Amino acid sequence: MEPISDVWELFPHQRAVRAFDQRPVPEEHITRILDAAMRAPSSQNGMPWRFIVVTDQAQKDALSPVYERCFDKVYGANAPDRAAGREPWSKTPVLIVVLAEAPNGRTSMMTGASVYPAVQNLMLAARALGLGSVITTLWRLENDAIRAILEVPEGWEIAAIVPVGYPDHPWGKSRRPPAADYTFRDRWGG
Ligand SMILES: Cc1cc2nc3c(=O)[nH]c(=O)nc-3n(C[C@H](O)[C@H](O)[C@H](O)COP(=O)(O)O)c2cc1C
Repeated sequence: MEPISDVWELFPHQRAVRAFDQRPVPEEHITRILDAAMRAPSSQNGMPWRFIVVTDQAQKDALSPVYERCFDKVYGANAPDRAAGREPWSKTPVLIVVLAEAPNGRTSMMTGASVYPAVQNLMLAARALGLGSVITTLWRLENDAIRAILEVPEGWEIAAIVPVGYPDHPWGKSRRPPAADYTFRDRWGG
């Protein structure tokens, strides 16, 4: 996929990409992606996030079967078409783990609202650079196993794991209904 610098082209081309070719992601791209994530808004500019960039093959090999188990638990043999062509994390060039601060083991709507914009920024930045990515949360079915592999300390919750790499094929635009179908004016139902 070509890089995109026109922001209006960026939105429809930011797709859920789940299969990658084996080209490594340049370190300077990872730096730029994380810088974009850091630019996201957060409550009181608290930046209640941390990132773990996973490129170590042993770590990816450990995480991969956990995600596969979760995927099978949810979908079994009935994986949606788009997700069926996914690749195991062991073959994914980079996994970016996004963590949210969880004081006393708790996260709130406010924390989530302060972390997921960073996830979206990083995915848009990745796409701008010609990289694909997908936000994942299915692994939460085995949250403890994932936490143990990543050695996540108490006080932090994993908010998302985002595989990133060069897509295995060019992905077209996303398909969505018109925003008008989902929008009211002035009040609910208006
Ligand atoms: C909160 C959330 C959790 C998601 N979890 C997963 C996941 O665990 N695995 C996965 O393959 N895709 C996951 N997705 C990606 C969605 O399936 C994807 O964004 C949606 O199908 C739209 O894809 P498109 O933009 O390519 O049309 C998740 C998306 C969101 C917003």
